[in-house]
Amino acid sequence: MARDAAIAAMDWAALEAAVAECTACGLSDTRTNTVLGVGDRRAEWMLVGEAPGENEDLQGEPFVGQAGKLLDNMLGALGLARDRNVFIANVLKCRPPGNRNPEPEEVAHCEPFLRRQIALIRPKVIVVLGRFAAQSLLRSTTPIGKLRGTVHQYEGIPVVVTYHPAYLLRTLTDKARAWEDLCLAREVHDRAGAEA
Ligand code: URA
Repeated sequence: MARDAAIAAMDWAALEAAVAECTACGLSDTRTNTVLGVGDRRAEWMLVGEAPGENEDLQGEPFVGQAGKLLDNMLGALGLARDRNVFIANVLKCRPPGNRNPEPEEVAHCEPFLRRQIALIRPKVIVVLGRFAAQSLLRSTTPIGKLRGTVHQYEGIPVVVTYHPAYLLRTLTDKARAWEDLCLAREVHDRAGAEA
């Protein structure tokens, strides 16, 4: 598709403008702000969530609500912060109304933006947050419990799957598993660094 090819050739400025002006799906009618992502564009770590929620839509930044606080703590435990060596993005750049699940058509229209972000950043590891983002990025229907614990690939970049922080806020018993996932991601990152 011409649109996909055009996005695949964009630099950051063009990408930023294209996302801000995007009307490819109906979410552009209901959004307040697009949410491109936040962080270091030369980061070695990339985190990918699902879609902006209410706070993110209002502020134009990913993970600024309660789930974001937990995410910041998780990053802190790894010695990372959202503006230092990490870039955080979502599969969707616009909020689905009422935080409903994204539609396949919305994902299909938005995916070239994420793919381009990943290509521009070229992180050493991608940590995917939650079932929806994991299944979208990996084009899989496997449940998240089965996607965890192994290293996947996206365009040649290692991908580690973990639970979504909003889920972890409700299911404290899975926090230890999320920590195992982050330790796996750190191993993958450090290994990639040693090979570079
Ligand atoms: N949940 C997500 O997946 N992404 C956000 O940016 C906020 C909440």
